[in-house]
Amino acid sequence: MLKRAKISVIGAGNIGGECARSLAMKELGDVVLLDIPNKDKPELHMPKGKALDLACCGPIENFDANLTGTFDYKDIAGSDVVVITAGLPRKPGMSRDDLISVNTGIVKHVAQNVKEYAPNAIVIVVSNPLDAMVYVAWKVTGFPAHRVMGQAGALDVARYKTFLAWELGVSVEDIQGLLLGGHGDDMVPLPKRTSVNGIPISDLLSEDRINACVERAKGGGGEVVKLMGTSAWYAPSAGVVEMVEAIVRDKKRVIASAAYCEDEYGVAPGAKGKGYFVGVPAVLGGKGIEKIISFKMDATEQKYMNESISHVKDLVGVVQKMFPEMA
Ligand code: APR
Repeated sequence: MLKRAKISVIGAGNIGGECARSLAMKELGDVVLLDIPNKDKPELHMPKGKALDLACCGPIENFDANLTGTFDYKDIAGSDVVVITAGLPRKPGMSRDDLISVNTGIVKHVAQNVKEYAPNAIVIVVSNPLDAMVYVAWKVTGFPAHRVMGQAGALDVARYKTFLAWELGVSVEDIQGLLLGGHGDDMVPLPKRTSVNGIPISDLLSEDRINACVERAKGGGGEVVKLMGTSAWYAPSAGVVEMVEAIVRDKKRVIASAAYCEDEYGVAPGAKGKGYFVGVPAVLGGKGIEKIISFKMDATEQKYMNESISHVKDLVGVVQKMFPEMA
């Protein structure tokens, strides 16, 4: 008998709730929303409430998907995909890195439960600081690296394309481009490889205008935090859903994702099991990260990439100091 995919979303907050909504709307599978009880108001059950509210969109939006809200990890058993959004979001003035001590503990706890209750799942991490949190999920679950990845590039690329499309006055659908590296202010832009349906953007925009779009994409998350007082959730969720769709529909999409690298892009040459998760173009399909697409960067791109990699290594170093078993 054919079965729907089962997708569990850990952390039913802003990103988790929006993920659940879009996953159901696209009929990508049945969705479990898991969160923790509210200590101050034990009578509430937020994930159950969100699941119930979302389920009642079905007849209006015409989707069939079971939505479950729970505090109990037993309910994620048999998940094909687990999305981890548990953790604190940024407040104005904070960088993603400021979240590291609290979110490492949260993601560690979540990953222990994913390992126990959904041992065959493909895991997509969203919690920040992203590249370090994917590393934590990988170490704690012990899953093969192709089944653990982070959502960051899908979002960063979407921001980059949005600002370029506005600048050029063209449809967002006609911009092709990539951003690589860590999910921080030192993400790596690749304007030379960005085009409007194959026409290089350098033929259409001045260097200054391109740089302005790149800088706005880099600071796009911070811009939203300043406006809303908390992290973005619509576009990050859209990025997650793009990745989940590629996996459950085995689409072999090429999506910039935080994927485990050793020799690729000079991340950790010859590391043999001691590599890092960094944003790279990856082929996403039914097995998870099915392939990392490598290309030779020019000297400037590689310089930016090296800086970004070194930042990711510093963050992982902080995690390893907190939990030496993660070295
Ligand atoms: N287990 C499960 N859920 C947890 C846990 C835990 N141990 N700890 C916290 N949570 C839940 C919170 O109760 C909350 O509902 O995670 C949810 C996070 O939701 P929000 O506070 O709305 O944060 P959100 O905007 O969704 O961002 C989540 O993703 O992009 C990153 O920086 C962002 O780290 C943040 C994460």
